[in-house]
Amino acid sequence: MITKNIQQAIFHLDQGDLIGMPTETVYGLAANALDEYAVKMIFEMKQRPFYNPLIVHIRSVEALDEVAMDIPSVARKLAGKFWPGSLTMLLKKRSIIPDVVTAGKDTVAVRIPNHPMALELLSKIPYPIAAPSANPFCRVSPTEAIHVENYFGSDLPLILDGGSCSIGVESTIVGFEGEEVLVFRLGGVSLEEIAEVEEKVKLVNHTKDSPEAPGMMKKHYAPRTKLLLANDLLLAAEENKDRKIGFLLLQKKLDPNQFPVQYILSETGDLKEAASKLYRTMMELDSQGLDLIIAERMPEYGLGSTMNDKLTRASE
Ligand code: TXA
Ligand code: MG
Repeated sequence: MITKNIQQAIFHLDQGDLIGMPTETVYGLAANALDEYAVKMIFEMKQRPFYNPLIVHIRSVEALDEVAMDIPSVARKLAGKFWPGSLTMLLKKRSIIPDVVTAGKDTVAVRIPNHPMALELLSKIPYPIAAPSANPFCRVSPTEAIHVENYFGSDLPLILDGGSCSIGVESTIVGFEGEEVLVFRLGGVSLEEIAEVEEKVKLVNHTKDSPEAPGMMKKHYAPRTKLLLANDLLLAAEENKDRKIGFLLLQKKLDPNQFPVQYILSETGDLKEAASKLYRTMMELDSQGLDLIIAERMPEYGLGSTMNDKLTRASE
């Protein structure tokens, strides 16, 4: 059931149920992070391996010390700048967080979501919320309540409807080595924005499965239709001319007579707007009965880098 009733959502969370929940990045499959049994259900419903830990969502910067400890000063600086918002930080975990949430690791991934409904919900419950993106393992993340309904409708008692996600890609995940910031997953906060706060920032080779970030797997976010990330759109089209092709473009339009299926992410080429529409456009393309989606490579800066990362994984 899709609803805007926060009280009802709380009723279910208190009972140990899972719900669909909006954030500004993507929708989450949410449970009481302190309820081990409920958290286990998240893994089962998503068919997610138990070694792949979850993000814990908290209500305020003050609540950070309830779930994490030994917090480096650079982490506090980043929290001050980006929270509430789409930056997740890996910090030393406190024992209140069950091991199942962190897959037995001694770090916990934490963020404050920047969505009015999520914040209201979090302000009214005494526990943090564990929530991965509300998609089955390896599928495209949901950015609207109806996407969650389509994935898990019959299994969830309730999906809280917070409209379309304004950021539309997952949070950026960072960890710390001394005062250096290591970026494990590109997302809604760009590398350049982080570098403005702390210049010692390093992008970890995030296309490989890495022990620090087990969930950042090569293949991810994939539509059912094969997707090709192209440097040269016309060449890619030529090489696949016998197939039914749909295009995913930043702004440049190809000849519509020659290529009838074209989706534009931003008329003005705005990368934030484009990112916010990326997943829902991939899902739309996926429902067109195409043989192939050819996606345009985005400019390699800001959220363009984030989109290229997602598109690369979708194309593996
Ligand atoms: O925007 C988001 O981050 C969304 C919304 C719902 O908050 N959540 C999300 O969660 O994308 P999920 O589970 O799809 O991705 C979480 C990633 C996984 O790749 C996981 O491996 C990593 O965070 N992660 C979580 N805890 C970790 C830890 N302690 N150490 C390393 N990686 C961790
Ligand atoms: Mg995910």
